[in-house]
Amino acid sequence: SKERLLEGKKVLVTAGGTVERIDPVRYLTNDSSGKMGFAIAEEARRMGAEVTLVVAKVTAPIPSGMPVVRVESTMDMMNAVLARLPEVDIVIKAAAPADYRPAERSEQKMKKKDEELTLKLVKNPDILQAVGERKTERQFVVGFAAETQNLEAFAMDKLKRKNSDLLVANDVTVEGAGFGTDTNAVRIYDRNGLVEAPPLMSKAQVAQRLLTMIAERLPKKEGT
Ligand code: PMT
Repeated sequence: SKERLLEGKKVLVTAGGTVERIDPVRYLTNDSSGKMGFAIAEEARRMGAEVTLVVAKVTAPIPSGMPVVRVESTMDMMNAVLARLPEVDIVIKAAAPADYRPAERSEQKMKKKDEELTLKLVKNPDILQAVGERKTERQFVVGFAAETQNLEAFAMDKLKRKNSDLLVANDVTVEGAGFGTDTNAVRIYDRNGLVEAPPLMSKAQVAQRLLTMIAERLPKKEGT
């Protein structure tokens, strides 16, 4: 039935903002609440999927009744995702991983000293790109993008560079869209360009639209 379009599919969803530690009590992170990823995880399960959640720092309640892998940094999230990748059919990367981490992490709390402090950051690996490189023909990968300008150009560039099947761009300049909100305004792209640009709606409704679109586009099993 239409209700259980993802019956038997294994879906991995990432949610939340990763945390990059500077010292034992300080860190870099972002405003991701986990709401978008959690809405996708719950809706996918409702559609019959076997869902695994990889969760970084979140403020929203974590859905129950599905396996949850807690991670801290982008490197941790990358390891958790790649370890499970061979078993999953669909990967949806709604998390906001930190692009940089401190070059050094102090084991002791840093002391206040000089007037200026320079924090050196080094680039983190790109998880979505790593997934795109390893993706097989039977796997389907969805990326997100949070942009404040040139939405379409950046979205299409990310989609192609990271070898994703779909890319969900949130226009974080729209009131009620993006980080922390219960609603989102998204534009969904595939390799050929814009597929859908629904109006501002709840993250649950965005999840439903997205997962229905994924179900319609899944690679067909051979011999069926
Ligand atoms: O959690 P909420 O409060 O509900 O907010 C939802 C959200 C705004 C966080 C979500 O909808 C969203 O857009 N997530 C992606 C945010 C992001 O990291 O965007 P990006 O443009 O920096 O990255 C593009 C894609 O690459 C994303 O799928 C991201 O998960 C992935 N990425 C980024 C960096 C990195 N090192 N590894 C990655 O895999």
